[in-house]
Amino acid sequence: MSLKYLILSIASFAHVCFSYGTPSRNSTYDNPILPGFHPDPSCIFVKEWDETFFCASSSFSVFPGVPVHASKDLQNWKLISNALNRREQLPTLAITNGSTSGIWAPAIRYHEGTFYILTTLVFDKELQTNLSRWDNIILKSKNPFDASSWTNAVHFNFSGYDTSPFWHENGKVYVTGSHPWELQPGINMVTVDIETGAVGDDLINIWNGTGGLAPEGPHHYFKDGWYYLMIAEGGTGLNHMETIARAKDIEGPYDPYPRNPLLTNANTTQYFQTVGHADLFEDSRGYWWGVALSTRSGPEFITYPMGRETVLYPVTWKTGDWPVDSAVRGVMNSWPLPPVNKDLGGSGPFIKDPDNIDFAPGSKLPAHFVHWRNPIDANYVISPPGHPNTLRLTSSKLNLTALDGNYAGPEGQTFVGRRQVDTLFTYSVVMDFASEVEQMEAGVTVFLTQNHHIDLGVTTLRTSNGTLAPHFTWRAVSQIPTPDPITTPVSANWTGKPLVMEIKAFNLTHYSFSAGPADAMSMMQTIGYGAASLVSYGFTGTLVGVYATSNGGNSTADAYFSKWRYIGQGQFLD
Ligand SMILES: *[C@@H]1O[C@H](CO)[C@@H](O)[C@H](O)[C@H]1NC(C)=O
Ligand SMILES: *[C@@H]1O[C@H](CO)[C@@H](O)[C@H](O)[C@H]1NC(C)=O
Ligand SMILES: *[C@@H]1O[C@H](CO)[C@@H](O)[C@H](O)[C@H]1NC(C)=O
Ligand SMILES: *[C@@H]1O[C@H](CO)[C@@H](O)[C@H](O)[C@H]1NC(C)=O
Ligand SMILES: *[C@@H]1O[C@H](CO)[C@@H](O)[C@H](O)[C@H]1NC(C)=O
Ligand SMILES: *[C@@H]1O[C@H](CO)[C@@H](O)[C@H](O)[C@H]1NC(C)=O
Ligand SMILES: *[C@@H]1O[C@H](CO)[C@@H](O)[C@H](O)[C@H]1NC(C)=O
Ligand SMILES: *[C@@H]1O[C@H](CO)[C@@H](O)[C@H](O)[C@H]1NC(C)=O
Ligand SMILES: *[C@@H]1O[C@H](CO)[C@@H](O)[C@H](O)[C@H]1NC(C)=O
Ligand SMILES: *[C@@H]1O[C@H](CO)[C@@H](O)[C@H](O)[C@H]1NC(C)=O
Ligand SMILES: *[C@@H]1O[C@H](CO)[C@@H](O)[C@H](O)[C@H]1NC(C)=O
Repeated sequence: MSLKYLILSIASFAHVCFSYGTPSRNSTYDNPILPGFHPDPSCIFVKEWDETFFCASSSFSVFPGVPVHASKDLQNWKLISNALNRREQLPTLAITNGSTSGIWAPAIRYHEGTFYILTTLVFDKELQTNLSRWDNIILKSKNPFDASSWTNAVHFNFSGYDTSPFWHENGKVYVTGSHPWELQPGINMVTVDIETGAVGDDLINIWNGTGGLAPEGPHHYFKDGWYYLMIAEGGTGLNHMETIARAKDIEGPYDPYPRNPLLTNANTTQYFQTVGHADLFEDSRGYWWGVALSTRSGPEFITYPMGRETVLYPVTWKTGDWPVDSAVRGVMNSWPLPPVNKDLGGSGPFIKDPDNIDFAPGSKLPAHFVHWRNPIDANYVISPPGHPNTLRLTSSKLNLTALDGNYAGPEGQTFVGRRQVDTLFTYSVVMDFASEVEQMEAGVTVFLTQNHHIDLGVTTLRTSNGTLAPHFTWRAVSQIPTPDPITTPVSANWTGKPLVMEIKAFNLTHYSFSAGPADAMSMMQTIGYGAASLVSYGFTGTLVGVYATSNGGNSTADAYFSKWRYIGQGQFLD
């Protein structure tokens, strides 16, 4: 036997042991798998697509929306497309009001060569138009690695949210969804023609859950002759939990699992809280996994700027038996993970990649950059004439707060950002901005909603002697008491020069906001500190990015941003 053959034999023997042998070696990994603003996850395993896992998550008011991530090893997750990436797919995203409106809870499924995402565009309660509060839609793709493959929305009539499809052996597609909690809360089901959106006249109420607030996020699974219906209850805060019931017939009656909740971190001291809104999938080796949302807040629930993130947990699901979930922790002991494999297409980065973006001529905004509602494209120009390697923002009349803090309207808000995905990070850009018009402003922000953001800008303001001069303006907008804004003239040495604008999450609870001349960074000065609790609220998660505004004035100004950098510097897991 040659040495080469011996090595090959050992290699294949090892392969057999690790892949198929019992006992297999368990793995450990860190949660969240999709850190930052990635709530309400839905994930699938698609063997036909080269054994790839796909996840979709909620995007609320950001555009592009419904990020789709893929992985082959459950560890390295790449943004492969945003299912909503052209405004004509869903023009009404532009008119949503309220910080918790927009796209809720996609359910992603694969059926006979097509990927389907069902999701709900939710309007504010006080909607004055004839539109329903709940606009349920279907997006389809035959290749989610290509963003342009996602179809325009096919609308279907369902009075509720969190819709999820199930393909029955009888050929029908049953869609479950949550009936609004302010009416009769419960899970309803109706058949839907998944191609046309036509809804059957067979709407029924199939389960109300175990009595927790807001039964929602339903998904159906068929296993060993049982239809399992798994839902979230308790509301998406500290009482969040996942419960399950099963029936022999899809229409019921559903018997609840005697040991519900199946999954929760409620009433614990864990750092990972609000665990719920889960989905289950089985890999090619027969291991079951679950994904859920969780908030790194501890039970204090005060500081959680990244909001609801996507976590992964192993599930034991024996034949004929109920699934058993492992409790969600920062470091997990799990089934063996598939071997590391980063061979994935698609346009976006891996979630843990740093940003090192120079806005090269001819490039586009990266796929992980988002706006708040639909952007006015002309306000975002890469490498305009005379300004290579910059992103030019043209100011909007509305600032990040806008008029009543909940609406932007067709004129838009000039803002582009990316998700904060690390507890500790440094984000910086070089900004070249000067305006002779009072109140004209450009800067950097940690943005959660229009009512929750912390900004460091350069604003043209009148000085005490009546002349206009650039000032650093730092401010926080929040539902909790905010520190006083800071206004300080830009040092005469620095005016007219490009400035480095930097935001750092330097510890668990605080951000610093600093600036200095781009050609003399040793002169950087920290202008303000903002507590992360100011941007810990609601359903979304923080974005860091740049903005430009006239603060209500009629003229416009351009700000040029370059050397966009984001680097993660640590995750807190307990
Ligand atoms: C949103 O709010 C604005 C301002 O309050 C209002 O004018 C507009 O009609 C609202 N839009 C919708 C779709 O309700
Ligand atoms: C809803 O209102 C819009 C705008 O006012 C109108 O164009 C549309 O026909 C109305 N739709 C229905 C179903 O009444
Ligand atoms: C939508 O379905 C509901 C019943 O769930 C029905 O009352 C309503 O008329 C339908 N709306 C449309 C526009 O078909
Ligand atoms: C859900 O609750 C309503 C109101 O109490 C009740 O009428 C209905 O029968 C319940 N549904 C199920 C499936 O138990
Ligand atoms: C947590 O404890 C409270 C108070 O005892 C209880 O009402 C609630 O149901 C518990 N939540 C869960 C998910 O166990
Ligand atoms: C391996 O992981 C599974 C899923 O978490 C768990 O049920 C099992 O006990 C673990 N086995 C070992 C030997 O740790
Ligand atoms: C007005 O004040 C600004 C900043 O305080 C200073 O730079 C400028 O020289 C002053 N102009 C006059 C005319 O005094
Ligand atoms: C401005 O420039 C002067 C002279 O070069 C220098 O002494 C001073 O420290 C500078 N101040 C700032 C705030 O950069
Ligand atoms: C973070 O730094 C701020 C400002 O220095 C300080 O007030 C706060 O206590 C620090 N937080 C932690 C968790 O150390
Ligand atoms: C935002 O702009 C409005 C005018 O559109 C103005 O009243 C408000 O003060 C500005 N808010 C901030 C935080 O600058
Ligand atoms: C902006 O233009 C409108 C319409 O011409 C005018 O009413 C308003 O006063 C102007 N606002 C400012 C801040 O100049």
